[in-house]
Amino acid sequence: MNDLLIQETKDYTRELFSGNSDGHDLDHSLRVYSNAMLIAKEEQECDLEAVALAALLHDADDHKLFDTEDNENAVSFLKAHGVDEQRIRFIVEIIRSVSFSKNRGKTPDSAEGKIVQDADRLDAMGAVGIARTFAYGGKHGRPLDGGIEHFHEKLLLLKDEMNTSKGRELAESRHRFMEEYLAHFDSETELISN
Ligand code: NI
Repeated sequence: MNDLLIQETKDYTRELFSGNSDGHDLDHSLRVYSNAMLIAKEEQECDLEAVALAALLHDADDHKLFDTEDNENAVSFLKAHGVDEQRIRFIVEIIRSVSFSKNRGKTPDSAEGKIVQDADRLDAMGAVGIARTFAYGGKHGRPLDGGIEHFHEKLLLLKDEMNTSKGRELAESRHRFMEEYLAHFDSETELISN
């Protein structure tokens, strides 16, 4: 693994997300990267460097944040850092397989795609997932109830959609914590009437 390239990718990601506060930020990318490395260690065969680069760059062209086409940010960064074209195509393929909304019910073809998708989904769960849900909702004018709905529409489904066994294992406690959180939320808000 080219450690210098990984460091430069982190620096690029920091630059790209500076000033973002809706849960898609540098820390999200770094957590997805760490989760992906954790999962990748348990997988028999995978291209660790491709996993690392795709994890760090997976939101670099997220349409909610950037107005780019064809993963332009990720592609031009990798090109400028001497990564060859075939490898860039592979990394972009991994990045594209990560998106939740574009890939409902679809499993990524490659082991690397499965790993990064699990890593991104893990960051939508648990304590961090809860924080990110309300941070995103606040930025987009969504009331707390809307955030709670998001748990039922998406976040509580993620546990059963993990691709890797390590991903499933890590998802367990995050899932339980969200259920516990929702139970508390319900009991604290049940007296509201209007
Ligand atoms: Ni993400």
